Amino acid sequence: ESEEENFLRSPICCVMGHVDAGKTKLLDCIRGTNVQKGEAGGITQQIGATYLPAENIQERIKELKAADDKHMKVPGLLLIDTPGHEPFTKLRSRGSGLCDIAVLVVDIMDGLKPQTIESLNLLKSRNTEFIVALNKVDRLNGWKPCPNAPIIKAMKQQSQDVKNEFNMRVVQIVTQFKEQGINTKLNVNENKRMRETYSIVPISAKSGEDIPDLLSLMVYWTQKSMTEKLTYSNEVQCTVLEVKYVEGLGTTIDVILVNGVLRRGDQIVVCGNHGTPIVTRIQSLLTPEPMKELRVKGKYQHHSEIRATQAIKITSPQGFEHAIAGTALYVVGPDDDLEEVKEAAMED
Ligand code: GTP
Ligand code: NA
Ligand code: MG
Repeated sequence: ESEEENFLRSPICCVMGHVDAGKTKLLDCIRGTNVQKGEAGGITQQIGATYLPAENIQERIKELKAADDKHMKVPGLLLIDTPGHEPFTKLRSRGSGLCDIAVLVVDIMDGLKPQTIESLNLLKSRNTEFIVALNKVDRLNGWKPCPNAPIIKAMKQQSQDVKNEFNMRVVQIVTQFKEQGINTKLNVNENKRMRETYSIVPISAKSGEDIPDLLSLMVYWTQKSMTEKLTYSNEVQCTVLEVKYVEGLGTTIDVILVNGVLRRGDQIVVCGNHGTPIVTRIQSLLTPEPMKELRVKGKYQHHSEIRATQAIKITSPQGFEHAIAGTALYVVGPDDDLEEVKEAAMED
């Protein structure tokens, strides 16, 4: 305990944007999954979470020139999926409140839409840095697919008409951002002054153009510019994302462990409704396999302890029926006063 550990935790990256901009599809493209197809009406209605280990990211970006001389210091990335439908403002706020960096997905054919602007305002209000993923470049009329290629390389393959349409749409979207008080610029190589000018990474979540560049920007930007924020701390920092009934498991909570360690058997306190804190023990600590979505029922890995940063499903002997999503989870340590912890939990 006394020994200060000095390593970085995984950055939390929240994917935001207007309905149908392609947020879930982008995650599918990164994970090699098909979650979007399985959604009712193609609509995301919950917050999702996926852990990408560094090995998988490195494999994905290995062909980038920049990857050769860059070293990944973070153990991975935790990606948060949010719904774009208008009524889900609360979930967007919860997701963006947790993240270290965000990806704002904009459909190149549509430009900025109401929930793009709402997301932008959430990010501005918290001073959260973000990358603009300008999605669906494959929908430009006459686009020739170049899977995984950097956008500069992909553009070289396109006809003059496609290039013109691309440039025209980018100029329009940069102007729309400007109207929101945000300076943006196409990401060619590396955008060094991201705080003043936000990077636009043109991608296709369908044919895969420039996805490696987007991943690489997320990793290298966060580990370089947020070292302090990402330095691992033993003090538990944990938020309840969703409260969910799962057959065979009862009512579970999906949490994001930002810092610290959770152990099976830990006494925990979670904010409950009717003004009653929930005091219980961790019965099981479950995660999906790496690269799989937490909100999709699948095979779970069981852990006796988990160190941050991770997305975890927790079960307890009495269930979590009355837990309130969006609040903090507290671990009662040996020196803690349970009554004080209960008070802290109910303040959320
Ligand atoms: P919500 O979660 O409901 O807000 O939507 P979303 O932003 O997650 O969008 P989603 O991933 O559900 O994609 C919406 C539709 O756009 C789906 O039909 C996708 O197949 C399609 N789509 C997403 N990305 C691309 C892309 O890069 N190119 C093309 N052609 N279609 C895409
Ligand atoms: Na959708
Ligand atoms: Mg979605």
